[in-house]
This record gives sequence, structure tokens and C-alpha cells, in this order.
Amino acid sequence: MPMDKYAVIGNPIAHSKSPFIHAAFAEQTGQSLSYTAELVEIGKVPEFIEQFRANGGRGLNVTVPFKLDAWQIAEQLSERAQRAGAVNTLSLNDKGIAGDTTDGVGLVNDLSHNHQLDLQNRNILILGAGGAVRGILEPLLNLSPAQLVIANRTVEKATQLADDFSDLGHITGCGFDDLAGEKFDLIINGTSASLSGELPPLPDNILQSSAACYDMMYGANDTVFMQWARQQGAKKVLDGLGMLVEQAAESFFIWRGVRPQTQSVIKLLRQQL
Ligand code: ATR
Repeated sequence: MPMDKYAVIGNPIAHSKSPFIHAAFAEQTGQSLSYTAELVEIGKVPEFIEQFRANGGRGLNVTVPFKLDAWQIAEQLSERAQRAGAVNTLSLNDKGIAGDTTDGVGLVNDLSHNHQLDLQNRNILILGAGGAVRGILEPLLNLSPAQLVIANRTVEKATQLADDFSDLGHITGCGFDDLAGEKFDLIINGTSASLSGELPPLPDNILQSSAACYDMMYGANDTVFMQWARQQGAKKVLDGLGMLVEQAAESFFIWRGVRPQTQSVIKLLRQQL
């Protein structure tokens, strides 16, 4: 029997770690499947999905810049994907194309399980108000923090985003200047500033003594945000490698109904950075 086929689509895609992660999950759980990285031309996502499905494809992960395309193409959306406005996991079956998003639950699992952070009644600050941040708000609000503050360079985007999720908990939007004098237990950097080595203009002294700082990016070296966090005396300084593996684990679970162990895979990836 041919192996069930899965892939990640993106543009660019060459450096994706998803094939490695899913191969490790498959081996660990004894699942027989193939998982490849596929470069898809901008504007060609519908055609690719159709062909992949016709060739026996069972599921796709979707990364930059196609998460909105996938959201539009999906014939059924999970509730969390509906709200996130993005899809990173497609299941292809007889009933059609189902879309889900696992980024937010991946972050929350990394924070809660891998780093043992209890966020109930805590003050959380999120930097950025783009697509990546929209995807993490619902699972974070489900942890019942005291408040969730979104700070963004373009203030209106932060206030709009807060409005969109205000039925789920105490959430507000503001600019970076408005943060002076506040104290947070957790700061999550969800801006794309780290990619260009830039740091959002944060005031000093906004960390509680036991605060954690989390950059959704990762790399061999600390991002500028992580360097800032260390200078400010953060108790824990974390990057997004665990989130990457956790979102993959959740996709794997959606497709295969089996939950893989993530710790060993995170460790292996860390060694390869
Ligand atoms: P993504 O899908 O990664 O979220 P995006 O939707 O383009 O990408 O959002 C990028 C986010 O990073 C935005 O919040 C952006 O701020 P603006 O809304 O004001 O553009 C933020 N960002 C990017 N570069 C930044 C920088 N140098 N300093 C602060 N914020 C930055």
C-alpha cells in the first residue's frame, strides 16, 4: 500500500524544519507516512492543493505567505481557525478540505507544559498586531490571564484586534509609549522585527521580578528582543523553537489521532541550530 502523503507548502520553503519534525514523529509513533516540503508559486495554491489531493495527499501544513489563502480555500473551518483568520493545517479527505490552526495551541503548550508557566491571573503583554498575533489570542485568553495587552507600532491595529477578541476576556490595545509604568509577568514578541534585527521601542522596568519573555522567532543566537529581556533581568528568556514543534505535534494529532512526544524532537532541533 502506498504511504499516506503529507507536505508543508510555503514560499520560500527550502529551510523548513517541518519534514524533519514530522519524520521524527512518524518514527516515534510507528506511523507510516511521507512528509515533504513543497515550494508553491504565489497565486497557485488552489491548483497545488487540488493536484496534491488527486495524487493521494492526505494533509498539508501551510506557512508564510499562504495561511490566508488556506483559510479561504478550506471548505470547513474549526472554530479557532475561523477566529484566527488563518489556517496552517489542512486535512484532505472524502468530505472535502478541512482547515485548522495549531499555532496558538502550540504556543500555549510550549509555555504551559515545556516551560511550566502558569498564566492564570497574570499580566501578559504581546508585541505586534499582525497575523501571527491574531492566531495566538484565543488560546492565551482561554488561560484566564488577569489582562492581555497588545502593543503595536500602528496603534489602531492593536485596538482593533483587542476589540475583535474582547468577548473572550480582558484584552486591550495600545502603543509602545503607553507601556511606561506598567508591569508584566510575560511578554511575547509577535512582531516580525526580530527578522530584521530590530527591537520594538520598549520602556525600561516593565518586567515583574519573576517575568518571562518569549520570542516567537528562534535561531542559533538570541534575538535582539531576547537580549533586551536579559538586560532587563527576565527570569526566563525563551525562543519559539518549542512552539514550532508543538504546533507540528498538534497537526500530527489532527491527521493521525496520535499525540507524539515533543521534548526529544525539540532537543534534536536545538542541537542542529
Ligand atoms: P505576521 O504575519 O508575521 O504577523 P504581519 O501581519 O506583517 O506579519 O505583522 C507584522 C507585525 O510586526 C506588525 O505588528 C508590525 O507592526 P505594524 O502593524 O505597525 O506594521 C510589527 N513590526 C514589524 N517590524 C517592526 C519594527 N521594526 N518595530 C516594531 N514593530 C514591527
